[in-house]
Amino acid sequence: MRTIKIFDTTLRDGEQSPGAAMNIGEKLQIAKQLARLGVDIIEAGFAISSPGDFEAIKTISSEVEGPVICSLARAKESDIKRSWEAIQDAPKRRIHTFHSTSEIHLKYQFRIDQAEALKRSVEMVKLARSYVEDVEFSPMDATRTELGYLCEVIEAVIEAGASTVNIPDTVGYSIPSEFGSVIKSIHDRVKNINKAVISVHCHNDLGLSTSNSLAAVLNGAGQIECTINGIGERAGNCSMEEVVMALRTRSDLFNADTNIVTEEIMRSSKLVTKITGMSVQPNKAIVGANAFSHESGIHQDGLLKDKSTYEIITPETIGLHKTKFVLGKLSGRHAFRTRLIELGYELGDEELNHAFDRFKKLADQKKEIFDEDLESLVSEEFTTVPEKYSLVDLSVSSGINREPAAMLKIKIDEKIIEKTENGDGPIDAIFRAITSITGTKSKLLKYEVKAITGGTDAQGEVVCSLEKGDRSVSGHGADTDIIIASAKAYINALNKLAAGKR
Ligand code: KIV
Ligand code: ZN
Repeated sequence: MRTIKIFDTTLRDGEQSPGAAMNIGEKLQIAKQLARLGVDIIEAGFAISSPGDFEAIKTISSEVEGPVICSLARAKESDIKRSWEAIQDAPKRRIHTFHSTSEIHLKYQFRIDQAEALKRSVEMVKLARSYVEDVEFSPMDATRTELGYLCEVIEAVIEAGASTVNIPDTVGYSIPSEFGSVIKSIHDRVKNINKAVISVHCHNDLGLSTSNSLAAVLNGAGQIECTINGIGERAGNCSMEEVVMALRTRSDLFNADTNIVTEEIMRSSKLVTKITGMSVQPNKAIVGANAFSHESGIHQDGLLKDKSTYEIITPETIGLHKTKFVLGKLSGRHAFRTRLIELGYELGDEELNHAFDRFKKLADQKKEIFDEDLESLVSEEFTTVPEKYSLVDLSVSSGINREPAAMLKIKIDEKIIEKTENGDGPIDAIFRAITSITGTKSKLLKYEVKAITGGTDAQGEVVCSLEKGDRSVSGHGADTDIIIASAKAYINALNKLAAGKR
């Protein structure tokens, strides 16, 4: 049985999804979860792309134990140096450098010939090797690159010291039979291929990223690049949960598995959804809300007789357990802490005290506190952002034949400002009052509200994505009152914009 390495690029390619920008605290929280999940390599960012990315990679390098920490770098001296500065504190570190190789990219984007692209690639791999042992090289747009030249580049970069060669289907153009045969050709034609691991990085423009990655495994690939929930540039990347569960479920065919702790999949998926504000479609394989629901009477009948009739994966395998009532008003700090540890969250004393105070307030509003409530509450502890603006008070009136109005009091740098605004609904009135009090101008890209659990006393969780200039952020708010949750989410997004974080 071969072990396929999982290279997670949620924090780099995943962050390239429109509206999925994350701040440093959020990236650190995801990186810690990826370590619990057992990924082999975390691509923590693209160090030279922004000071925020650089700081995030640096923080993850010094605080996350287990996986190799990697930074992306174009085949340029400045990028490689900056990547090294970002990852140098990581016990295990990698530089991933790339250069386009397809005729289309070389002719129209770079205006250089094949020889020059090869020369730059080799030089930059050598430079990266002068900083770290572990260097990965990607010939970008590999699937639209002439195969002979692709093999030549791969052989040369391995000779220059690359220990992983990654074959990106950058524009999601390939299909499984073709992609599998590219990997086989590389395996057969590149003389020194035994000195490197073949990796694949498939985009999902034709909905084939998981199938292409699996075809590559059947043809000798030893590493898969993927993201949680399949987020990423355009239609996204190969989805980690799909490719991992396909390998696990059909190990009889692949004769391969990964180091992933599959019981952590669901928690990872929920965390990424919460932080990026990108919801998972209900019918999404593995982590969609319907992935384990059986509607048909015939299926239900079979399941009651024997689960194997219609279930190829048990929900428990991916960490999906029946929602259970865990805590309530009378639960003490010890029970609270113990349940959090069982859920995989270890909070420091200060964070625990703060979370416990919030838990007590919630328990006053809501009789039963479910695991999902705890997860929402705790993840807010990790994703705090400096509060330039904070909600002090709010009241709303709306109804049939009545103009909706919202009165808000917001504290801005120690001063409380109050305003009342009308709108075409209570949420519109609230958002107008917030923008008028804060004097901010940003565009609301998305407003989404959903119940965290069942029950009419459930907490509502709101995501507001705001855009200002070339930056977009997602703010969150949770409350048993969705009007208050909406105001909190909008203010959270404004605080993220104000903190200057991506
Ligand atoms: O899609 C792509 O080609 C990439 C490379 C940087 C690996 O993301
Ligand atoms: Zn990509």
